[in-house]
Amino acid sequence: MSANEKRQAGEAAIRYVEDGAIVGVGTGSTVAYFIDALADLKDRIQGAVSSSEQSTAHLKRLGIPVLDLNATGPLSLYVDGADECDPHKRLIKGGGAALTREKIIAEASAKFVCIIDSSKRVDLLGTFPLPIEVIPMARSLVGREIARRGGNPVWRDGVVTDNGNWVIDVHGWQIADPVALESDLNQIPGIVAVGLFARRPADVVLVGDKLL
Ligand code: 5RP
Repeated sequence: MSANEKRQAGEAAIRYVEDGAIVGVGTGSTVAYFIDALADLKDRIQGAVSSSEQSTAHLKRLGIPVLDLNATGPLSLYVDGADECDPHKRLIKGGGAALTREKIIAEASAKFVCIIDSSKRVDLLGTFPLPIEVIPMARSLVGREIARRGGNPVWRDGVVTDNGNWVIDVHGWQIADPVALESDLNQIPGIVAVGLFARRPADVVLVGDKLL
């Protein structure tokens, strides 16, 4: 993990911000550098749609208006980090427990620019435990379904998401077909969102200030 590469990536993503834009903003330590850089442009954008209470607080602290996705409609740009990124720009996200809102904004955005340091690059997703947000009453049910599929579910005890839900981290999956796994898990009742971004991968990945 390199703080310098995270800062370079956060600052390099600024080149994708167009005048007058409403920018989708992710969550995490890499995105924090992007928010800091975005503050320099705050008079040239309409504002941001935020993926978490953490990013909302940071944006507001720097005077960047935070807008409601229901009011903005589709966005031109979403900038967010990741926990793992494969050569096809498919991601594991959710280490910061913000995966559901991140997924909603990614889906609503024409371009998803993912900002990472080189430690996040992998050939096969799954070394980083896959986060899954669940409705609390479904925790055991979802855990059994994951075990049936060969995964080892670990409840992130004590963590409550911004949506009032819980997170299960799945260890032990080497994910050969991320699109198929994401689609399969999406069918299990009680799962709110899966931290696999494969059906809607990133469009652009910046590793530091270099394009993947
Ligand atoms: C939060 C996320 C983050 O993008 C991911 O955890 C990477 O965080 P960082 O930039 O701090 O390494 O998915 O839910």
